[in-house]
Amino acid sequence: MNPLEKKKFKRIRKELLSNARGKVLELGSGTGINFPYYEKVEAVTAIEPSQHMIERSQAKRKQAVVPIEIVQASAEELPFAANTFDTVVATLVFCTIPNPEKAILEMKRVCKSGGKILLFEHVKMENRFLSTLQDWLTPVWKKICDGCCLNRNTIDLLKAHDISVLKVQNYYSDLFIFAEAENKK
Ligand SMILES: C[S@@+](CC[C@H](N)C(=O)[O-])C[C@H]1O[C@@H](n2cnc3c(N)ncnc32)[C@H](O)[C@@H]1O
Repeated sequence: MNPLEKKKFKRIRKELLSNARGKVLELGSGTGINFPYYEKVEAVTAIEPSQHMIERSQAKRKQAVVPIEIVQASAEELPFAANTFDTVVATLVFCTIPNPEKAILEMKRVCKSGGKILLFEHVKMENRFLSTLQDWLTPVWKKICDGCCLNRNTIDLLKAHDISVLKVQNYYSDLFIFAEAENKK
């Protein structure tokens, strides 16, 4: 994804993260690519299950202008008290989480009522031919891309869990989405 990252994703990440406020939780922070883009927030707690990724993300953590703590954990079992965070961020991660329903319930629990949920994800497309192609490719794609599901409908999953989706912007037709949502309790 490196060419896409440089050409387009960098700008999308910056715009998305400029909406983050207060205490932020980032799910599946990977190499820490988002860390330098946080500006007007109090602090960021990033969770990431892979020790290897946590080590790789230390360099980006040092570049950040806000305090960043990285905790080894999975989105399905967040080691935080209810109503801890003002904003939850997930970028290119809901496609990989094995149990996204459980992760959404956990995200709702630890995010304050009225808190922001900011997402940048690739999702199942509307076009029937393309979404069928995504279904067809997913089993192989999952094997070669660390469990990544090409056909996950993350926006519908949020709505099914009573999260108010306020804004969705599409990129590359509707393969990638940028979404702002509000946690309701
Ligand atoms: C495609 S990478 C995206 C990394 C980063 N968020 C970004 O925007 O580039 C997916 C990340 O999700 C992490 N991940 C996998 N399973 C997870 C889970 N159950 N909970 C949280 N993160 C998970 C992976 O270890 C990996 O770092």
